[in-house]
Amino acid sequence: MYKIVAKQELAPKIKLFEIYAPDIAAKAKPGQFVILRIDEKGERFPLTIANANLSKGTITLVFNEVGKSTKKLASLTEGGGILDLVGPLGNPSEIKNFGSILCVGGGVMIAPLYFVASALHKAGNELITVIGARTKDLLISEDEMKAISREFYITTDDGSKGYKRLDFLEEILSKGEIKRVVTMGPVVMMKTVSEITKPYGIKTIVTLTPIMVDGTGMCGCCRVSIEGETKFTCVDGPEFDGHQVDWDLLISRQRIYLPEERMSSLLYERLEESPEHKTA
Ligand SMILES: Cc1cc2nc3c(=O)[nH]c(=O)nc-3n(C[C@H](O)[C@H](O)[C@H](O)COP(=O)(O)OP(=O)(O)OC[C@H]3O[C@@H](n4cnc5c(N)ncnc54)[C@H](O)[C@@H]3O)c2cc1C
Ligand code: FES
Repeated sequence: MYKIVAKQELAPKIKLFEIYAPDIAAKAKPGQFVILRIDEKGERFPLTIANANLSKGTITLVFNEVGKSTKKLASLTEGGGILDLVGPLGNPSEIKNFGSILCVGGGVMIAPLYFVASALHKAGNELITVIGARTKDLLISEDEMKAISREFYITTDDGSKGYKRLDFLEEILSKGEIKRVVTMGPVVMMKTVSEITKPYGIKTIVTLTPIMVDGTGMCGCCRVSIEGETKFTCVDGPEFDGHQVDWDLLISRQRIYLPEERMSSLLYERLEESPEHKTA
């Protein structure tokens, strides 16, 4: 069992778990992920490592409650545990001094982006940072991101805080200073960022999150098309050049099991609410 040593609610339906996993904490690098299974009946699902604390032997995971597995995970309490945790998986982010970097984070993925961004900051890069969410109440890691950024911007889909759209990135890019863009967040956001940066020819690193099962390159579930070539996100990624990704294929593959996922989430909620379950 991997013990949950701390649990926090960062925003509605966004939880932070600090988990005692010294072997993983010793090797974890920004950009990598773990695959977990809550109990013997649970499915395997990936979450990105949002921090690793060597002295405490812990890793931090930040996740959104979107379906059955993440809702079940959110229901666990401090002192409880997770049955299986495999990792660190995937390739770490490339951390070196590139110069000025534009970091764009969206939703729950702002937390793991902070892990990457702070390593880039330590490597001597100047950071221009943008964080975004559907609405201002869902913004996370704002103070932490601000603290490592030379320039800091906020964007919300409903305009409740900061800019409403990502068009203002053009203004930042047109100054000619940005050497690299790193973006983590919803697929549609990363696709938009890549479309905006492409005419400027600035390398844009995206973190892809297709459906994964084994996480070791065996099942083929996480395949994506990069410049027409099939790649497995779990072993070849999860970071890729955003200008080379077939975004439409990725979006359609992510939705393959939507009806089953909705049904499974609904059944889980009904079971949780049932009087038999509450008295059990
Ligand atoms: C490399 C990687 C890193 C990720 N990091 C994070 C993270 O740090 N925080 C976070 O909140 N989410 C992260 N995700 C997404 C997370 O894995 C899904 O939200 C989770 O699996 C949903 O499971 P569910 O049963 O709660 O929801 P479901 O209702 O089963 O699914 C909701 C949606 O999540 C996606 N999903 C479902 N199953 C999987 C799966 N096995 N693998 C990947 N995606 C799936 C699908 O797009 C699906 O439509 C990451 C995904 C990948 C591939
Ligand atoms: S998750 Fe199976 S090949 Fe990547």
